[in-house]
Amino acid sequence: MTTITIPTLAKLKAEQEKIAVLTAYDATFAQLAADAGVEVILVGDSLGMVLQGHSSTLPVNIDDMVYHTACVARGNARAERPALIMADLPFMSYGTIEQCLESARKVMQAGAHMVKVEGDDWLIPMITSLTRQGVPVCAHLGLTPQAVNKLGGYKVQGRDSDAADAMLAHSQALEAAGVDLLVLECVPSELAARISASLTIPVVGIGAGAGTDAQVLVLQDMLGLNSGHVPKFVKNFMTDGRTVQQALAAYVAEVKDGTFPAAEHGFA
Ligand code: KIV
Ligand code: NA
Repeated sequence: MTTITIPTLAKLKAEQEKIAVLTAYDATFAQLAADAGVEVILVGDSLGMVLQGHSSTLPVNIDDMVYHTACVARGNARAERPALIMADLPFMSYGTIEQCLESARKVMQAGAHMVKVEGDDWLIPMITSLTRQGVPVCAHLGLTPQAVNKLGGYKVQGRDSDAADAMLAHSQALEAAGVDLLVLECVPSELAARISASLTIPVVGIGAGAGTDAQVLVLQDMLGLNSGHVPKFVKNFMTDGRTVQQALAAYVAEVKDGTFPAAEHGFA
């Protein structure tokens, strides 16, 4: 089988096939995720929390992202059907066009196929530059963890109708600017479904209900390794005596057949 590309993802949305996205930060899990059928591996800056032990993603720097992207790229290359690798640009590494291009160059040269940035229409100049230079971009709206200090905590976003309308308008502006994928995190299910239906590009949800085109979870969360508070949108797939490989396969199967997420994993 061939590798997953941006056109593959567009085709999956057009054919209404759900897309499975999962984070991974090393070669072992990248290969396992791709072999389980995960289409997009996100080298998320969530590594600041799950690997580095920080309480937010703010301490993660571009060198950390380059190191983990390179590890993931090597493992993914050994999979039977490699996934598309998306790398987060970390906190304060894409505030200007110059800085953004330099950060994107580093993770793309480390093996990413796409970069992800958190924010709304202020990102348009950066997205335009990246797109012109052949770098596919995923935008991330809703709960954007790099902005936790501004948001005042890890809270559901887009609850009132003005905020919901603004998120829809921002999504459309980002698509028009050239993004190929959009992540919606902790957004009411109904709003996420409305945004997904209004866009041609695939929308990836986390805590955004079943109406998006794709789902993403943090690897450690879906393996039940989350200590302390477990977010509502998390499902532990490491049940019923499953191996890690079986848990990953169950995640992909449940995303594909719509079993995950259930209503209980979303926000009203
Ligand atoms: O860093 C990450 O893992 C993410 C996902 C939660 C979308 O950005
Ligand atoms: Na992230």
